[in-house]
Amino acid sequence: MKNKIIFLNEVDSTNIYAANLCRNSAEIPLAVVAALQTNGSGRMGRSFHSPKDTGIYMTYILNTENVETLNLITSAAGLAVAEVIENMCDVKTQIKWPNDIIISSKKVCGILTKLITENGKIKFALIGIGINVSNEKEDFPEEIRDIATSLKIETNKVFDKEKIIEKVIQNLNEFFIAKKFTEKEIVESVKKRSNMLGKKVFVKSENREFFAVNLSPDGGLVVLDGEEEKVIHSGEVELF
Ligand code: BTN
Repeated sequence: MKNKIIFLNEVDSTNIYAANLCRNSAEIPLAVVAALQTNGSGRMGRSFHSPKDTGIYMTYILNTENVETLNLITSAAGLAVAEVIENMCDVKTQIKWPNDIIISSKKVCGILTKLITENGKIKFALIGIGINVSNEKEDFPEEIRDIATSLKIETNKVFDKEKIIEKVIQNLNEFFIAKKFTEKEIVESVKKRSNMLGKKVFVKSENREFFAVNLSPDGGLVVLDGEEEKVIHSGEVELF
């Protein structure tokens, strides 16, 4: 069945649930959405705080057959969500490479993309999206209280989660299925929102700092290594 969305009251992680569906089911839904995650996961092995009803926890399942540049999925997904937040909530967003969404220097959304292979071939990309919607500051665990925010904290309004989900899915469909924009246009739009370009950044995998100068055509972070440019495709990068 096409365009089916599965809504769950509780799940360990929508990414894990979606991965199992991709491996074991003939009917692959378009997205899995949960009201609560007991084991929400983030990048770099971190967990994603996913309390009941205050956030959006969803995984969009993308068949990668017609995706030209797999590396660009992560950046494009960040852009898709950033645009929805800007349009619906009337706030300015920034994208922290590769795809955290930032409002007023704090993280409002994290995205974790997993690729699913079959017989050694990549078949699906699971785009896991977590958006803090109605959390109050004290709802966040203490260790992230100063770096996390929610749409409610930033706007003083409570937004309809279902409408946001609908728009995010619509945007992702336009980006990946209808291919409404060229890859160049997507990278340009991400660049405009990037909070790293022109700044010193610390690349954890290299344990050193670089100067971030650009995004590559497939969404990598171009940094200066002395005189030479170097493209970083994954890993953790922090603003200095
Ligand atoms: C990050 O900030 O490091 C990425 C966070 C991604 C969280 C989302 S919530 C829905 C989906 N299911 C998960 O377990 N993680 C992603």
